[in-house]
Amino acid sequence: MASTNSHHPDLATRIAGIELANPVLVASGTFAYGQEVSRLYDLAVLGGIVSKTITREPRPGNPPPRVMETASGMLNSIGLQNPGIDDFIADYLPLLREAGCPLIVNIAGENAEDFVELAARVGTESGVAGIEVNISCPNVSGGLDFGTQPKLTESVVQAVKRACIAPVMVKLSPNVTDIREIALAAESGGADALSMINTVVGMAIDAKSRRPVLPRGTGGLSGPAIKPVALAAVWRASQAVSIPVVGIGGIMSPTDVVEFLLAGACAVQVGTANFVDPWIAPRIIDGLRDFCSENGVERVESLVGALEPPVNAR
Ligand code: SIN
Repeated sequence: MASTNSHHPDLATRIAGIELANPVLVASGTFAYGQEVSRLYDLAVLGGIVSKTITREPRPGNPPPRVMETASGMLNSIGLQNPGIDDFIADYLPLLREAGCPLIVNIAGENAEDFVELAARVGTESGVAGIEVNISCPNVSGGLDFGTQPKLTESVVQAVKRACIAPVMVKLSPNVTDIREIALAAESGGADALSMINTVVGMAIDAKSRRPVLPRGTGGLSGPAIKPVALAAVWRASQAVSIPVVGIGGIMSPTDVVEFLLAGACAVQVGTANFVDPWIAPRIIDGLRDFCSENGVERVESLVGALEPPVNAR
């Protein structure tokens, strides 16, 4: 049984009924299907794994260059490269099933039928704790359609919920005027949880060649550069909806995790940081335990939404 004193803080939390040993998951697209990192450490230490987006058919992704470093961040234009649902289930799911922590499978479609078929198939696979519906990829044609128009958000989530027996988390884009509108639309479509934020549309230009660096002109910005944007999104959305929110965006340290929890997230996903240090997620989990011990936090769940008002609030 988890102990509940500040020398042995209880890090357990949950997302829509998915029990997590701690609130630190690894984010889709930054951990592949766990193959490489499983050689470095025991994946069971993680709060959970969100696997790279799967589509119905295999996708080769966008032409190179597909990633570039920016000030405090990274731009990517991967283009949802993945082996497709059949190969994912046959070749990649077996290792993920054995990871020893909850697995959330990220899916994306070009239309509602794709989302429904993927959700129906993945949602019934053993070892899948939940699905993350990616309606927020800025790097493929139509990738943002379902994530920027509330009516489309609501209808695709409704269709997925009808088809899927596993909990459904919807991954939202920051590339909207007010993320609360999309959060509310996903909630009214029946989403069990939300995750936010996916990447911020950004661009890099090569001054000498006078050309964009990335193949589609723009890409998705991630890393510490977007943490303030992500915190504001989580803070606003979590006050607007009554379903759990999972925070994503530039998390590099235990205190980053605490900030997201205070803002209202019930858990977080560590993304770009995995490219900087593949051991970072377990280090953050250890550091979170230390933070709780040092600050008298007996249960990490007590931090969720525990933000105090600004000193000179207006
Ligand atoms: C990509 O594959 O292009 C990134 C995935 C995403 O932004 O959802």
